[in-house]
Amino acid sequence: MVNKIAKTDYPISGLIATRWSARAFSEKNVEKQKILSLLEAARWAPSSSNEQPWRFIVFTIEDKEELEEAHSVLSESNAYARKAPVLICGVAKKTYTHNDKDNRHYMHDLGAATAYMFLEAYNQGLAMHIMGGFDVEKARQLFEIPQGFEPTTMIAVGYYGAPEMLPEKIREKELGPRSRKAIGEWTYLGRWGKGMTH
Ligand SMILES: Cc1cc2nc3c(=O)[nH]c(=O)nc-3n(C[C@H](O)[C@H](O)[C@H](O)COP(=O)(O)O)c2cc1C
Repeated sequence: MVNKIAKTDYPISGLIATRWSARAFSEKNVEKQKILSLLEAARWAPSSSNEQPWRFIVFTIEDKEELEEAHSVLSESNAYARKAPVLICGVAKKTYTHNDKDNRHYMHDLGAATAYMFLEAYNQGLAMHIMGGFDVEKARQLFEIPQGFEPTTMIAVGYYGAPEMLPEKIREKELGPRSRKAIGEWTYLGRWGKGMTH
């Protein structure tokens, strides 16, 4: 497994520092218990009004036809994810259930649940990759997602594979360093644009 530990300026939990988005997946199947642990982690994410607007559609090799349908929605640039034995479609409910009003936090809360899932995947020794590049309307139709719900991400899950299996351009990304903006580029103190010295 490629080691891509974040070069942090300040100390953070090991799980956050070591998580990264792999593209090389082994064909080894993922145990159902582990998939359930990922969903359990997502379950405990915070959400506005505790609405829990996230929905996840899980595709496994137990049903090859459904898994192939899930592969078919991925954009070409995400073809690497077709090797993963598990795909998950992340969907968010756009309105609050208690009053039918718009929930402007729906994507935020799906994202929080997915982030929890990602950390648990890493904890379980699994690779995971979130993808926004997929055919949303095709997914809506194929997966029979009702109106009022937004298909937002496709998530690949599996064991780490060998980077050598990847096409050259993707392999470079797999082996390249992880980079981030400095905290000061997106943190202000008290007023927009007012720099925080650290
Ligand atoms: C909402 C979302 C959409 C993304 N879409 C794609 C995608 O379509 N294809 C892809 O290869 N990576 C995708 N990524 C992964 C990001 O490129 C990756 O998280 C980022 O480069 C940081 O790398 P790291 O997760 O290894 O730290 C997506 C991530 C998120 C959160």
